[in-house]
Amino acid sequence: MTRFAPRVFSGVQPTGNLHLGNYLGAIVRFVEMQETHDCIYCVVDMHAITVWQDPAELTRATREVTAAFLAAGIDPVAHIVFNQSQVHVHAELAWVFNCVARMGWLNRMTQFKEKAGKDRENASVGLFAYPNLMAADILAYLATHVPVGEDQKQHLELARDIAAKFNHDFAESIAANGYGEEFFPITEPLITGPATRVMSLRDGTRKMSKSDPSDYSRINLTDDAEAIALKLRKAKTDPEPLPSETDGLKGRAEAENLVGIYAALAGETKEAVLRDYGGAQFSNFKPALADLAVAKLAPIAGEMRRLLADPGHIDAVLVDGADRASEIAMKTMDGVKDVIGFIRKK
Ligand code: TYM
Repeated sequence: MTRFAPRVFSGVQPTGNLHLGNYLGAIVRFVEMQETHDCIYCVVDMHAITVWQDPAELTRATREVTAAFLAAGIDPVAHIVFNQSQVHVHAELAWVFNCVARMGWLNRMTQFKEKAGKDRENASVGLFAYPNLMAADILAYLATHVPVGEDQKQHLELARDIAAKFNHDFAESIAANGYGEEFFPITEPLITGPATRVMSLRDGTRKMSKSDPSDYSRINLTDDAEAIALKLRKAKTDPEPLPSETDGLKGRAEAENLVGIYAALAGETKEAVLRDYGGAQFSNFKPALADLAVAKLAPIAGEMRRLLADPGHIDAVLVDGADRASEIAMKTMDGVKDVIGFIRKK
């Protein structure tokens, strides 16, 4: 018997524009998980400031991610939606995890290496410790399942290592405090579906990303129908027609990416898409993909615009979510303090 009820947690950074990768790799999955699990979805503004953010832009982007959650179909009443900085346990537990995680573990994080680039000496300490804060996000709620895109896999493995080391290092105290064998769950990453790694429209070997200087590399959630169609028309492809089976996509990164995007938008598998479009030229497939993308994304963009016209409502949703999140997280933090041996008010 585990003491951990199934619970989903995931987060999205309010930096730059949300794109199709965030939507298909994460937000669509967040919406699905609501049917079967209690879900907590967080706009991780404290992660965002590990690199410089303009304050007004950070506020705007926090509301925009929240609006995207709501517009996509996340229910902030049945579940919880909030911004990270409103729940102080995230910072508090991250400090404990700074003392659990090892320098060697963090030194292996590929995302830090990518983001810090050549100038590591000048990266913020927060950027280095970023995965510890992420572990705190998840474990403050004793979350058992975390839906994410492929690029977060290594961070989630680190969160599992932190939970296991805490459980191990404090085993006696955990048992003495009545928590049995494990204080923290060993969280399951959920990285599934046809779009766990949506690639750039300009280069099928690079991930679609907020930080790509070319806006043609990505479809933003707020792009209008014309921009979506134009970007897909200009998307890099090869001269061959589409294959009839997924094996034929091997070595054709751009073709594989567009088929994956179609499948994810249509709620189908890549196999099913190729059954319909095998043998088709890109000149036929791209307009069909553009129509599908516009049909799926335009209503979300419209709803986001409507929600963003009333920032007071969005802020109220975040405050309400933060109140409910705090209640859960503070209970975990009290347990952590008892297990570590910190004196606290009871
Ligand atoms: P972030 O804000 O970079 O991305 C949010 C989510 O979108 C997914 N994603 C993609 N999926 C498919 N294809 C892509 N090209 C693509 N680009 C992004 C990401 O995998 C992610 O699921 N560190 C996290 C935020 C975070 C978090 C957490 C996630 C903070 N705490 C706790 C889970 C649990 C991040 O920067 O995601």
